[in-house]
Amino acid sequence: MALRFDGRVVIVTGAGGGLGKQYALYFASRGAKVVVNDLGGSMSGAGASSRAADVVVEEITKAGGSAVANYDSVENGDKIVDTAMKAYGRVDIVINNAGILRDISFQRMQDADWDLVQKVHVYGTYKVTKAAWKVMQDQKFGRIINTASVAGIQGNFGQVNYSAAKLAAHGFTLTLAREGAKYNIQACTVAPMAASRMTETIMKDEEDLRLLDPAKVVPFVGWLAHESCKETGTLFEAGGGWIAKLRRERSQGVLVNPTANFTPAAVSSLIGKINDFTNPEYPVGMLDYADKHKLEDALLKPTLPKPAQELRFDGRV
Ligand code: NAI
Repeated sequence: MALRFDGRVVIVTGAGGGLGKQYALYFASRGAKVVVNDLGGSMSGAGASSRAADVVVEEITKAGGSAVANYDSVENGDKIVDTAMKAYGRVDIVINNAGILRDISFQRMQDADWDLVQKVHVYGTYKVTKAAWKVMQDQKFGRIINTASVAGIQGNFGQVNYSAAKLAAHGFTLTLAREGAKYNIQACTVAPMAASRMTETIMKDEEDLRLLDPAKVVPFVGWLAHESCKETGTLFEAGGGWIAKLRRERSQGVLVNPTANFTPAAVSSLIGKINDFTNPEYPVGMLDYADKHKLEDALLKPTLPKPAQELRFDGRV
């Protein structure tokens, strides 16, 4: 049986094109009422137009679905949620998808390149979610999908601003998932890969463009957003029909008595062990790290031998 979204209200930000448009069409085709948000500006965040959102709303309504347009920037997320509440009286699913790029090497980056990218991706994701949160808490149901990027997970030349913003989306997700659990609000992050205006500068090959049709990301996000899905606080990569989960891996590490000879030179002699990923751990929470017992055990360890030569920082500022 197909998973459906009848009675659900979905906000898709940046739904005028690329991935967002596909999300909006998909949810509407499976019974959801959709708020199609798009500022309608350029890829670098300049200008605005109502056309992008209107075209998608028209396509949905022509196909017999239900959708309303919203033209606000995600920075005014409360207005987007207002549109949903006025039209449909609830918000069940938020797909924080809107995004821009202002790629430039760190050396040449201006404050405006940094600020606008943080505003749209980080502040915008926060504002939309914040406005929807109370509604979701009262309903005791919510699904939030935030959008990361491999550029944030792995880093990418010329994308310092974007990398910082896209990994922030996942930090946001991790804590939302914890705070939302008792209200049946779940949050996940997806790092998509899709042919869109955002990737057209790096993907020129027609074969790549065909393989990475944005529609191929959509069913996975549909599943994550469905009431039957229990995933929360997790990060996935998805594109072209490939879906994978990412998690944090930690080496066993070393436990040293920090009371004597715990110096940078001593650390350099331990680095092989610190970096050794044999038998890794998969930490899942704050206490996995700051375990009091572990720190007490450290005090019982023999102190480190005094390094033959201490590392110094003479001449460094
Ligand atoms: P796109 O440029 O086709 O779509 C982004 C949409 O967001 C546009 O329609 C744009 O008008 C809208 N938008 C931009 N700023 C806005 C604002 N302030 N308020 C409301 N709407 C706004 O790009 P694409 O590829 O569909 O990207 C969607 C999301 O996926 C973005 O968050 C992007 O960073 C992310 N992403 C995409 C990847 C890809 O391979 N296409 C890779 C990794 C991440």
